[in-house]
Amino acid sequence: MKIAIGNDHAAVEMKNEIKAYLESKGHEVINFGTDTSDSCDYPVYGQKVAEAVASGQVEEGVLICGTGIGISLAANKVPGIRAAVCSEPVSARLAKQHNDANIIAFGARIVGLEEAKAIVDAFFDAEFEGGRHQRRIDLITAVEEKYNK
Ligand code: RB5
Repeated sequence: MKIAIGNDHAAVEMKNEIKAYLESKGHEVINFGTDTSDSCDYPVYGQKVAEAVASGQVEEGVLICGTGIGISLAANKVPGIRAAVCSEPVSARLAKQHNDANIIAFGARIVGLEEAKAIVDAFFDAEFEGGRHQRRIDLITAVEEKYNK
């Protein structure tokens, strides 16, 4: 799968580890930065990854900041994006199965590396179940469309 990854200064090391981990599993990973520990603004990177997903440049995305919260909030402002912040693998699996999330987010200051690997495994190994869940995704999209006219 083609995956975009992005992060702020709080998550450079974890981004590098997760990028290498996903590549070791056969994914193609495009890095949108940041790549230094200089203080930066997480919305910039949330937007870059979200736009890569929304445009179809990549299939899905990974976002990491200190908590995963700010960077996912920014990503979710891009139409078509469903970024889910998850701190454990069960939520990550359900974010795909039930919510058809297209970006998984987590916090480098919240989860350790092994938990982060378990989160991305759960997310990328899962598939959207459709059915009644599709109706709810359609309702989310309708909210988005109402305010993006
Ligand atoms: C940066 O210090 C921190 O605020 C950021 O990484 C993130 O946790 C925001 O949600």
